[in-house]
Amino acid sequence: MSRKPLIAGNWKLNNNARETISFIKDFSSRFDVGCDSKNQSEHIDIIIMPPFTSLHAANDAIREFYLTKQKKISLGAQDLCQFKEGAYTGEVSAEMLVEIGVETVLVGHSERRQIFREDNDTVKAKMLRAWDAGLSVIFCCGEPIEVRNQHKTDEWIATQIDHAMQGLKQDSNIEHKLVIAYEPIWAIGTGQTCEAQEANRVIKFIRNRLKNIFSNTCASQIRILYGGSVKAATIEEQMKQSDIDGALVGGASLKASEFSQIVSLFFNGFVVSQKA
Ligand code: PGA
Repeated sequence: MSRKPLIAGNWKLNNNARETISFIKDFSSRFDVGCDSKNQSEHIDIIIMPPFTSLHAANDAIREFYLTKQKKISLGAQDLCQFKEGAYTGEVSAEMLVEIGVETVLVGHSERRQIFREDNDTVKAKMLRAWDAGLSVIFCCGEPIEVRNQHKTDEWIATQIDHAMQGLKQDSNIEHKLVIAYEPIWAIGTGQTCEAQEANRVIKFIRNRLKNIFSNTCASQIRILYGGSVKAATIEEQMKQSDIDGALVGGASLKASEFSQIVSLFFNGFVVSQKA
């Protein structure tokens, strides 16, 4: 089984409900770019991750998109609570996300780890909670610049991966429910992308790590994305790499013109030879 390319847009704290609807309309009007046939569009997955309060509007708009374009955009959330229910003021549970049509949730993003002080234990608890509720997970890992400068990137990533994956071993469907995003922290929102060969090297390292945790077959089917200042102008080089299966896009996912260009580059250049 080959790995299907995936482009995920992480909108962060941007796009209210009204802006979400107009984004999807704009994206829809551009969607034919680079998409030669309906069949071809089945070779790529697209996820958008709006803020919580825009999820409902997004769900309606992507349903409309499906009716007109016959192409699914999947709905993702940027976070979830590590607890199922109870006295956790301000939190949103995995089940609440499922109820409004969310299929995937982002866990372990460096902004959650750094600004909101989520440690490896919290990240692991969120993974398990998402899993129990039937959500797919995009698990983010990546090193800060000091760690890279000390040549300790691989150890850093290994710790993040090993810790978060504990407890997932028994799941038989792991390759369909888990996506990893390698996002070097120094590349996020800085305009400084990680050099494509180096990103591919780290991603191969992650895949080998997954082989030790799960199995060879499972690890070779798990999709691993690159994230960190991805733009239409930089994506082509990344797409050519053997182990990069797509992108987690922040800033460049906010403009329908740029996001649709990134998706269409995947249609044209990447889909043709799916990664094995
Ligand atoms: P960026 O963000 O593309 O704006 O660097 C990526 C991310 O934080 O997921």
